[in-house]
Amino acid sequence: MEKQVYHLRREKIFQQMPDNSIALLTSAEIKYRNSDTEYPYRQDSHFYYLTGFDECESLAVLLKKKGQNHFILFCQDRDPQAEQWTGVRVGVNDALEIYGADEAYPIGEASKRMPELLAGTTIIYFLVNNSPEFDKKVFSWVKALGKKIRSGITTPRQFVDFRQIVDEARLIKSQDELQLMRKACSLSADAHVHAMKHCQVGMYEYELEAILLKEFYRHGSRFPAYSSIVATGDNACTLHYTRNDKMIKEKDLVLIDAGAEYHHYAADITRTFPANGKFTKEQQAIYELVLAAQQSAIQQIAPEVPWNKAQETILHILVQGLIDLKILKGSVATLLEEKAYLPFYMHNSGHWLGMDVHDVGEYRVQGNWRPLKPGMVFTVEPGLYISADNMSVAEQWRGIGVRIEDDIVVTEQGYEVLTEGVPKSVHEIEKLMKDRG
Ligand code: GLY
Ligand code: MN
Ligand code: MN
Repeated sequence: MEKQVYHLRREKIFQQMPDNSIALLTSAEIKYRNSDTEYPYRQDSHFYYLTGFDECESLAVLLKKKGQNHFILFCQDRDPQAEQWTGVRVGVNDALEIYGADEAYPIGEASKRMPELLAGTTIIYFLVNNSPEFDKKVFSWVKALGKKIRSGITTPRQFVDFRQIVDEARLIKSQDELQLMRKACSLSADAHVHAMKHCQVGMYEYELEAILLKEFYRHGSRFPAYSSIVATGDNACTLHYTRNDKMIKEKDLVLIDAGAEYHHYAADITRTFPANGKFTKEQQAIYELVLAAQQSAIQQIAPEVPWNKAQETILHILVQGLIDLKILKGSVATLLEEKAYLPFYMHNSGHWLGMDVHDVGEYRVQGNWRPLKPGMVFTVEPGLYISADNMSVAEQWRGIGVRIEDDIVVTEQGYEVLTEGVPKSVHEIEKLMKDRG
C-alpha cells in the first residue's frame, strides 16, 4: 500500500493520544525452528499496520509533543557485508523517503536516543506483554531517564497498553484492506476447489495439503495464514488436527480448514466433503444440519446486530436438529440450558479476521455483546463433531466431523461473503466431485 495509507493510519492513532505521549512498537523477532534455521519472517501485525515496514530489528516511535506528531523509525542500516547473506535492507535514508518517517536512525542508536525522546512525556504506550524482552527495554529506558529527574525532566508515569487504541482501529477494515482480504479469500477459495477436485481415496491427507499450498503460492500468497487442517474421518473431530498424515479412506468425510495469507491479510475457510464424492445418508444429515445453521446465522448479519446473535442462532438450529435425528433427547430450551450440545459443538460461532486469523478487537463493550459495524470482518463456522468413541450415540453417527466456515464483511446494507467461491451445498459438492473424472 502507498505510504500515505500508513501516514493516515498513524494520524488517526495520534488523534487518540494526548499531548506529551509516546508510543513504542517493536518489530517481530526472528523465530528459530531448530538450531539456527529460521521460520519465515512474519512482521508483527500492529507494527506493520502502522508502518508498512517489513524488516526485523526495527522500532517505531509515535511521539506527540507540544501538539506536533513525529514518526521516528529505527532500523538496520545498510551494510553490504551483512546484506550479502540476508538480503538488501531499506536502511535509514530510504526509511525517510519510502516509509515517510520524519526521522530515521540505526537501531543500534535506540537506547542512546530514547531518553531524549521520552523526556517530557507523561504517558507511554506499548503492547504490554507482547514481548517480555521489549517490556524490559521500555522499563530500562524510563529508568535511565529517571536518573535525570533532578535536572527538571519529567518522565512517563503512565504505562498504557497500546492495544486499546490500535485494536479498535484494526477492527474496522478500510477499502484498501478489504481489497486485500477479497484477494486472500478468493485465492483460498480456489485452492479449496482444487483440493476437492483432486481428492482421491487412497491419497494421504498431506497430499491435499500440498495442493492447497501450491495454489496459495501460485497466486502470490507466500504463507498459509495458519497451519492447514486436512482431517479425514474421525480426525475431523480434533478441532486443530494438523498432523495431516493419514490415508484417505473410501467412506471418509474430508474436513479442510485452510486459508492463505495475502499481503499480511488472512483468509480462513473450512469445507467438508466426501472422499469418494458421495455423502452417505448419515453424513448428509449432519452436513445439512451444520449448513442450515451456518446459512441462518449468515443471513442475520447486518449493522447493529449483536456479535452473539450468530452463536445463538447456530445453537438453536443445531440442538433442534440433533433432537430430530434422535442424537439428543429433550426440549430445545432444556438442552440449551444444560449445554447438552457441548460433546458435539464446543467452540464459538467465529472470530474477527484480518491481519491475524484470530484478529484483534473486543467482543463485548461495556459488558454487552458488541453490535456489528460496516467494515468488520469475521468468520461464521459452526460444526458438529461426533467422536468415534462416543458410545452415547447410535453407531451410525460415530466418527462424523463436519465444519463449514466462511469469511464475511459487514456492509452498510447487510453483509458480503468473501469466500463464496467454494461450493457448499450437497448437490454442488457432489456435482463438482462427479465432474472431476
Ligand atoms: N482455522 C482456525 C479457525 O478456524 O479458527
Ligand atoms: Mn476460524
Ligand atoms: Mn478455520
